[in-house]
Amino acid sequence: MKESTEILISEQTIKSRIDELAKEIMNDYRGNPLTVVAILTGSLVFLADLIRRLELPLRIALVQASSYRGKTTVPGTLHVQADLLPDLRDRHILILDDILDTGRTLSHMKEEISEQGASSVRTAVLLRKKGRQVIPMEPDYCGFEIPDHFVVGYGLDYNDEYRNLPFIGILPESSGQG
Ligand code: IMP
Ligand code: MG
Repeated sequence: MKESTEILISEQTIKSRIDELAKEIMNDYRGNPLTVVAILTGSLVFLADLIRRLELPLRIALVQASSYRGKTTVPGTLHVQADLLPDLRDRHILILDDILDTGRTLSHMKEEISEQGASSVRTAVLLRKKGRQVIPMEPDYCGFEIPDHFVVGYGLDYNDEYRNLPFIGILPESSGQG
């Protein structure tokens, strides 16, 4: 890493918040079987940490979606690759994403999964950026609201790097944003 990344949310703060989210989710589903559908690649660390705290009969499904290509922090066309998804009919679904920004990814996935005949579809995001949403939708579970910065770490990337940082950091300006 060329330059140190400013910490926005520490590893410990993320850990405590995920404990709280897991409790909220368990309380809502009350032992009912759940399928967590994680949107790759950004949600993989969130997925790994959250599911280990969920004491529910659980299945995991993965879907690839991306709207950023290479060295850009401006969203482009949404690409969804759903062929990894199992049959979701009659299942309670919780869609996980790393961050709710414009809202395009999550609202698209929610619609697509509802059309597949799921019993219920809810959404959970680790982060939600203030003042960025263009598609109105409320996530059912949200870890943190953050200011409008391009953030990396804990699964989130810039040009496919930084995902391994254990905290959420603000991408240094000099990394060539835009
Ligand atoms: P949306 O469709 O605009 O809500 O964007 C959601 C997707 O964009 C997320 O799944 C992220 O992969 C990506 N994204 C949005 N903002 C950021 C950011 O600040 N850092 C890294 N990825 C981001
Ligand atoms: Mg993503």
